[in-house]
Formats: sequence, C-alpha cells, structure tokens
Amino acid sequence: MTRFSYTPLPVRVVFGTGTAGQVRAEVERLGRSRVLLLRRPGRAEVVEEALGPLVVGRFEDAAMHTPVEVTERALAVLRGAEADCVVAVGGGSTTGLAKALADRTGVDQVVLPTTYAGSEVTAVLGETRDGVKTTRSSPEVLPETVIYDAELSRDLPVPVVVTSAVNALAHAVEALYSPDANPVVDGLAVDAVGRLARGLRGLATADTREELLHGAWLAATCLGAVRTGLHHKLCHTLGGSFGLPHAPTHTVVLPHAMAYNAAAAPEAMRRVADALGATDAPSAVYDLIVTAGGPTSLRELGLAEADLDRAAELAVEHPYPNPAALTREGILGLLRHAWAGERPAGVSPSLDGLTAQVVSTFAGPPRLRALLTDLVPRLHAFAVDNDLTQEEWQHGIEFLTRAGQISDDKRQEFVLLSDTLGVSSVVDVLTNSRTPETTPSAVLGPFYVEGPPELAQGTDIARGLPGVPLWVDVRITSTSGAPVTGAVVDVWQSNSDGFYDVQLPDLDGPVLRGRLLSGEDGRVRFWSILPSEYPIPADGPVGEMLRATGRHPYRAPHLHFMIQAAGHQKLITQLFVSGGRYLDSDAVFGVKEDLIVDFEPRTGPAPDGREPAGDWRELTFTFRVAPLASPH
Ligand code: BEZ
Ligand code: FE
Repeated sequence: MTRFSYTPLPVRVVFGTGTAGQVRAEVERLGRSRVLLLRRPGRAEVVEEALGPLVVGRFEDAAMHTPVEVTERALAVLRGAEADCVVAVGGGSTTGLAKALADRTGVDQVVLPTTYAGSEVTAVLGETRDGVKTTRSSPEVLPETVIYDAELSRDLPVPVVVTSAVNALAHAVEALYSPDANPVVDGLAVDAVGRLARGLRGLATADTREELLHGAWLAATCLGAVRTGLHHKLCHTLGGSFGLPHAPTHTVVLPHAMAYNAAAAPEAMRRVADALGATDAPSAVYDLIVTAGGPTSLRELGLAEADLDRAAELAVEHPYPNPAALTREGILGLLRHAWAGERPAGVSPSLDGLTAQVVSTFAGPPRLRALLTDLVPRLHAFAVDNDLTQEEWQHGIEFLTRAGQISDDKRQEFVLLSDTLGVSSVVDVLTNSRTPETTPSAVLGPFYVEGPPELAQGTDIARGLPGVPLWVDVRITSTSGAPVTGAVVDVWQSNSDGFYDVQLPDLDGPVLRGRLLSGEDGRVRFWSILPSEYPIPADGPVGEMLRATGRHPYRAPHLHFMIQAAGHQKLITQLFVSGGRYLDSDAVFGVKEDLIVDFEPRTGPAPDGREPAGDWRELTFTFRVAPLASPH
C-alpha cells in the first residue's frame, strides 16, 4: 500500500531563455514598486535595466552561509530606501540574503538564480551567527516569484556549472530515497536526473544551459518538498566545520553517499540508473562527474586526511532519516573513499572507468561526439545489465555481418532491421511535421527507387497486371487547405502477389511505380490495382529474427506516396486499406490511424469514362503538406 502526504509550495515560476526582461512586470504583478536589488558588483545589468525606475536601492555584499551581520547591513539599506520588494540576482548566497530579509520584514521576493543551487524554491533559510550555522523553515521565507533565465547562467565558468549541476543532482537523488518521497516528487526527481545528466554530458559540445537549468529547477522543487539524508548532512558538516566549498563538496561526496545507501535504497538507485542509461547508479554518477571534468576527491578540495575522523563523528552526532543505518565506521570508510577520489565499486562488475575512458576519447564534429558520448554508455550498460556472454555478442556480430552480406543496391537488410525494430518509425516521428493539420508521415521502406518513370495523369501504373482495378484521385493541399499545383508525387506499391517490381527480375519494369505532377486543382489521378498484404523479405537475418521471436513478416496493404512541393516540407507516407489484414500488427510499425482509408468498392463507369470489367475501387484522399518555415 502506498501512503504519503505532500504539500506543494506556492511559488510562481517563469522559465525560459531571455525571461529576465519580464522582471518589472513580475514585480508589478505583486503590486510592488520600490525594489531593493541584490546582486554581485557590476552584474545583472539586464535586470537593472528592465526594472528601470523601480530600483530604489542596491546591495552587493551577500556572502556565503548568510552571516547575520551582512543581513543587518542589507536590512538598513532596505529600510532606508523604503523598499517594498527585493529582487535577487545571483547564486545561493544572494538568494539566502533575500530570504533572510523576507524573514525579518515580510518583504516580497523576486529571485533570478544564476546557478543551480536551488534554494529559491524552498522555504528553508540557513544563517550563520558567530560562525555557527542554523537552518529553519518558514513560509515567509519562500520567494513569491522565481524567474529562471538560462541567459543569466551564460557567464558561469564551466567548472562552476559542473559542480552546481551535481549539487542539483544530489537534491533529486536524495529526494528519491527520502522518507517524504511521493509520486509527484519521484517523477520530478527522475526527470531532473535525466535532464542534468544530458546537460552535463552535452556541455562540452553544445549549449545545454537551458536543459541544466530546467533540471535544476525540478531538483530544487524536490528539495523543497522532502527531508534530505546522509549526503546533505555530510556536505553541511564538511562545509560548516571544515570550510570546504559548497558545490564542489556535493560533487565529490554524492557518488560515495549513494554507494553507502545503494543496498538500502535499491528502487531509488534503479530509477537513477535508468535515468542515466546505466546499471549502477553510484558509479554512473562518478563517471558522469569525471566526463564533465568535475572534482572527485576531498583531498583536492583541501581537506586534511587527519580531519576524516572528526567529520565522521560529526555526521552521526544527531539522528536524521537515511535509508542505510548510520555508523561512525561506515561513514569513515565512505569519507576515506571520497578523500582519495576512488570510483565507487558498485553492485555490478566494475568497469574501472572504462566507459568514461572510452567516452573521453571522442573528438571530432560536436554532433558526432554528442551521439557517441550517449551511445557508448548505453551499449556498455546493455552488456552489463544483461550479463552478456561472449557467445551472445559473437552471435550478434555474425547476425550483423550476414545483414551486410545480403545487402546490395536492391536489398537493404539494415533498413529492414531498423524498420522491424521500430527505429525507422521513431526517427520518422522525430523528423516530420507532427502538427494535427499535416498528414502523418510513414516509413519509406526499402522499395523506393530514385527517378521513377514520369507519367501523365490518368495513366495505369499497373500496366495490365492482374488485380482489382483501383482509381486513385488524391489532392495535395497546403495546411491552409489551398491546393498545391505542380507537386512532384511519387507512388509505388506491390503487385497482387505482394511483390515489388524490383523483387521480380523477370518482370519488364518499372511497373506499379511512377511520378506524377499535381494539376491546377492540386489533384493527381491514376489507375492501379488494389494493394494486398505482403511479407517483407524474410529470407535473411531479419526473417530469422522474426521467426525466432514468434513474429509474422506481414505488412498491412498500402500504397506509398512521396510528395515534394515547392515551399513545403517533403512528405513520405502510405495509405492503408481499411479492413485490410495486419493493420494492428504491421511488421514494421508503419500504420497510423489517420492513414487508414476506405478504398470504396464501385461498379459501372469510372470518373475518367473507363468501364472496368467488374468491380473496382476508388481511393480519394487529401494530403496536407506543411509549408516550410519562412526565413526571418
Ligand atoms: C514497404 O512498405 O515497402 C516496406 C517498409 C518497410 C520494410 C519493408 C517493406
Ligand atoms: Fe510497401
């Protein structure tokens, strides 16, 4: 039975790139007009400009751990300027100061975070008085509005981005095994882990600041809703009592705190591992940090080995919730590993950093690097997760070798493999226009031939081959409904036995394929025969795979179209015969509801005056093609 309680915190969030310009509207939305601006010296000019005359005072001395003396000085400025609102632009220290001021005066806060620290969406305030840090929680402290602008983190140096993002990652990880975990927080945490990992992995080759900020916000929202465990306790101890820097300490400690908790929180670890595309969460987090170039040892952060004992003692001084039992010896062991920067051994066979090592070798074009950097850890995890044997891997290699050997300019086994594993349909969905106004696309398949015969309207593409005559009358329109004239429309289909001309060397081809141009009214008309279901080529390795997995090789009956019109996106699609076989088990996953069409039974004379001998069918359909985005 699942039991939980959950109280979401009421904070308004404005997210995006370039959103800082909305700060004035957000202040006015709160009914405020006199702003004390908290910022770093010389920073946050966009914000100051956007606020204009609303700024009645500035304070630039926010300090780490929110010392009360600094807050007192800021309070004097706030009162002197008669400010009714603070706008804070900066990292955790600036946000902390805004919260401390709100705690004392009830003043409204609009916070624009420049790092991924996350305290902007929590109701927790940590302050230091005479060197002692205390934290408390109060609704007054929660900012009214947070504006996330990825642009504001643009100047953050990469090493800070990395440690700050791992700090955020720690919020999400600890939320998953917190006693306060609930389905909403779990969902946010898993999403956060995925985004932060993608953002960190892509950092070297792409601008991933928005992805990181998005992940950081989700992770911070988790932090605002749950109590944290060993990881946060250790970081506070190491920061508070040994002066270690906040985010780098989080970065070093996280994989080790996770390893400590792994056996006691298997479900949380599985979710983190899944989100990272890995098997073992603690070592995967360690590898992620190595790949991103973050710190891995407490030694490099300046902690003396002699301090480890005392740190372990402090970490068990007061009880707090944590999945694994907290023992001084256990924590000392954890700290020793973290001090030395060792990779957590993990529950699965140690790859000894092999994955990170392989990933670090990729140079070359950014996109290639990004794809391989993502692919390799997934392949390694696939092998590890499944305990892949030498024989199985060899079998896979032989399978691919045979797929290559059977392929030539007419037979493409790799396309078939991609189709039957659904990958072609995935890429198709990603690539093509998916608006409801556009006709859905479908896989190209291996039987399209470049440069089909150019045919006049009304031609019979079946050229007398046996089958039920089919009159096709389709219209090409733009998404606005306007007819598209002069569109190049390629069509191809199988014969009534289920073969394409290219599969029949004795046939006098090309047949059952052609290229027509749409007329003034956007229409394309031609004769053909009713397509039937057919098996995809099953005499090669793909057929073997289908048989071995109990799958049939049949495609639902369909007619292929490729439509290329000036000023419009190319549309590759298929129309499926409603009532046809295999519509719900198409071997290549190509069927979409909107593409299933009635091929209407008819008798008597056809619209072009021809009188087929018996029954015939009529296919009418309107293709809506998406206009190309106009250049700005
Ligand atoms: C086809 O419809 O022509 C097709 C598509 C994918 C695999 C095999 C055939
Ligand atoms: Fe086909």
